Amino acid sequence: MSGTTGVPLARITGTGRYLPEQIMSNADLEKLVETSDEWIRTRTGIRERRIAPVGVTAADMGAEAGRRALRDAGVDAADVDMIIVSTATPDRLLPSTACDVQALLGSPRAGAYDFSTACSGFPYGLSIAQGHIAAGHAETVLVVCTEKMSSIVDWTDRTTCVLFGDGAGAAVVQRGAESSGRILSSFMKSDGTLAELLYRPAGGVRIPIDSTVLETRTHTLKMAGPEVFKSAVRSMCEAAEGAIHRAGLKPEQIDYLIPHQANLRIIEATARYAGVPMEKVFVNVDRYGNMSSASLAVAFDEARESGFVTPGSLALLVAFGAGFTWAANVVQL
Ligand code: COA
Repeated sequence: MSGTTGVPLARITGTGRYLPEQIMSNADLEKLVETSDEWIRTRTGIRERRIAPVGVTAADMGAEAGRRALRDAGVDAADVDMIIVSTATPDRLLPSTACDVQALLGSPRAGAYDFSTACSGFPYGLSIAQGHIAAGHAETVLVVCTEKMSSIVDWTDRTTCVLFGDGAGAAVVQRGAESSGRILSSFMKSDGTLAELLYRPAGGVRIPIDSTVLETRTHTLKMAGPEVFKSAVRSMCEAAEGAIHRAGLKPEQIDYLIPHQANLRIIEATARYAGVPMEKVFVNVDRYGNMSSASLAVAFDEARESGFVTPGSLALLVAFGAGFTWAANVVQL
C-alpha cells in the first residue's frame, strides 16, 4: 500500500524515549576495529552511540519509552487499546516483543503486535496507528520503536559496527479533533528486490543457525554501504515529496524536517531536496548513531521536548530502511 491521504482525527498526544546510559565513543571503537574518529565523523557525522547492557532487552527499553510517552500524554497504561512495536531486534522470535511490552506496561485491554519495516518503523507506525483509529478499532494506540542494534552487528566489521547504536522511542496516537499533533498525511513504499543490500542472511527459516553460520557470522547485519546510501537519498526524497503532496501542501510550507538519523550526509542531501535549510533540520546522529526505527522516534521526542519545533508549525518526518522500505508523515505540531 502506498499510503492514505488526510485520514482525520488521529493526533500524537505524547512522546517519550529511553537511551541506555553507557556511551561508546569513536575512540572506543578505535580499540575494536581498524578505524578512526576522523573517518567516522567525516563519513557519517557520528561521534558516539549508546550501548544497552547485557540483560536489557528491546522490550525493556521499549516499555520505558512507552511509559514516558504515556506520561507525556497523560494516559494511563490501562487505557491503551493497541500496542504496536517496530523492532529489528526482537527479544525472541516468538511471541512478539509487543506482547512483552504489553506485559511490562500492564495494559490489560490492549491488542499487541510487532511490525517489521526496519528504520522506517516510526512513520509506518504512525500511519498504522492512524489507520486503527480511522477504522474504529482503537481510541489510543501506543507506537513503540525499540532497537538493540549492538546485539546484531558484527563487532569485527568496521564497515557496519561504527554506524549503529541502541535506544527506544515511542508516541501515543489518539482520536481527537484538536489540531495539535495531527497526522496530516502518510506515505509508505517498499522495494523487496533490494533486500540483500541490507540484511541478516541467516538465523531465520531460510538459513537456520548452525555452526557454519556462527563461524561466518552470517547471522549478523550485512550492508552494501554505498548502494544503500544512494537508495536512501532517492527514497527519502520521494517519501518527503509524497507526504507533502498528500497533505495538500507545498514544500515551502514545511517548517521543520525531522529525518531518520543514519548518516549526516544523507540528512543533508534530503534537506537540500526538500528545500529545508539545515537550521530547521533536527539532527542527533552525532550523539546516538543509527538506532534503526528508534532513531526517528527519539529525534521527534527530543525535537518536541527541547523546543526545537514550535507549536502549530508543520514537521515532515521521513525515514528509509532495510527491505527496502521508506515512509514519511506531515505532522502539525
Ligand atoms: N573506518 C575506516 N575506514 C573504513 C571504515 C571504517 N569504519 N569503513 C569502511 N572504510 C573504508 C573502506 O574499506 C574503503 O576503503 P578502500 O577505499 O581502501 O576500499 C573506504 O573506507 C571507503 O569506503 P566506502 O564504503 O566507499 O565509504 P563511503 O564513503 O561510502 O562511506 C558508509 C561508507 C557506510 C558510511 C556510507 O556508504 C553510508 O553511510 N551508507 C549508508 C549506510 C546506512 O545509512 N545504512 C542504514 C540505512 S537505514
